[in-house]
Amino acid sequence: MSEQATRTEASVSQLRCIGCGRTALPDRFRCETCRDLLEIIYPGWDARGPYGLDATSLKKLWLDRRSSFEPVDISGVWRFREVLPKIAEDKVITIREGNTPLYELPHCAQSAGIKHLFAKHQGMNPTGSFKDTGMTTAASFARAAGYEWVACASTGNTSASMAAYASRGGLRSLVLIPDGKISWGKLSQSLDYGAITCQLKTDFDGCVRVLNEVVERMPVYLLNSVNPYRVEGQKTVAFELLEQRGWESPDHIIVPGGNLANSSAIGKALREMKELGFISRVPRISVIQAEGANPLVRSVRENGGEKLIPVHAETMATAIRIGNPASWKKALRVIRETGGTVEQVSEVEIALAKAEIGAEGVGCEPASAVTLAGLKKLVKQGFVARNETVVLVLTGHTLKDADFTLKFHRGDLFEGTSYEAEGKGLKPYQRSPLVLEPSVEAVIDLLGSAKS
Ligand code: F0G
Repeated sequence: MSEQATRTEASVSQLRCIGCGRTALPDRFRCETCRDLLEIIYPGWDARGPYGLDATSLKKLWLDRRSSFEPVDISGVWRFREVLPKIAEDKVITIREGNTPLYELPHCAQSAGIKHLFAKHQGMNPTGSFKDTGMTTAASFARAAGYEWVACASTGNTSASMAAYASRGGLRSLVLIPDGKISWGKLSQSLDYGAITCQLKTDFDGCVRVLNEVVERMPVYLLNSVNPYRVEGQKTVAFELLEQRGWESPDHIIVPGGNLANSSAIGKALREMKELGFISRVPRISVIQAEGANPLVRSVRENGGEKLIPVHAETMATAIRIGNPASWKKALRVIRETGGTVEQVSEVEIALAKAEIGAEGVGCEPASAVTLAGLKKLVKQGFVARNETVVLVLTGHTLKDADFTLKFHRGDLFEGTSYEAEGKGLKPYQRSPLVLEPSVEAVIDLLGSAKS
């Protein structure tokens, strides 16, 4: 740890209920009085700032750490440790997460009808999704608290990430996933990294219900995104994004919505950055869901977001196949505070957007592509202006769901579904693999015809 940080005082964190506002709560996941979710606050920041440092000193300290070889400095999460809860360095489990690239997407920008479009690619994390940034913090806290077992219910990415961090930290892990409803790539990761993996004959929401009871009865630490330490780690993507942009806010950040923790985390980071004087303007945050897994969109449209309307979720973007999102109140608060919105996109719109992001040489998994599909709608509605700078948060790597990509390019993704007719319109974007005789002429002929 750098000297400057050790000389100053640690940021003491507390748990606060997002519903009733009670503070200094015991280390649980819900308020014992009103059952709402908890969030981490840092009461000392008001008077002294994190570790007694101001925004200018912190920006410099974090940049200086980029030339260090210490694991906690190399980590793109722990590099920002002054804005995270304090943890002993020997308890930190890091696989060098974070430090993900910010790519410009000129062709997608053109397709959406705006000038400046970027992708913050969280799929470039060690296990291929944004989950690693929150898992490093929460798994480290599990280890520091002396837990032997950690567990999560998952649509595949949380489980892959948890399995990896648990094993790296010497913890045992239990994964509950919906049988047959996650990509085999994600399932294989959880097996490979050494988790006990159970496929339950239910959906994600059913897995959550079972796990919530298991953790009540057993000394197992819950690593779902209701865990506020995960949200703290996931915050760092916004610090890193702003650092990459010279601390200049984009106009709009667009995030996929599943269990709705990621949008909450990014919003919390931006709120903190504004309060601490890192930025003068907070970008809008909008959340995009799949039409078949749209509880937040429905709730906002049908009752102004007063009450969550759970849905039976169905989408090929299996990562966000979630009907009863735990963090909906946190996400809604962020959308309202920043002046963002919620939108939904169809299966065909998701497939097209994914192909367009792939064709930029970047690629992402289907759930991440809802961001571009949603942006197109927001531009058409006039909610996003053509001269705005927009950042899409791409949450998962393209190899997370290779099956989807292969089916898309072979032209059978929508075969036998109600989207079959509409899906035919995607033909110009499909590049089916070609089978040729092993002859030089055949390849040269092909190149000739491909040129025209
Ligand atoms: N994108 C990807 C690739 C995801 O895996 C998830 C969630 C989301 C977006 C949605 O993020 O839940 O914070 O709104 N995946 C979870 C999982 C639920 O178990 O891997 P969120």
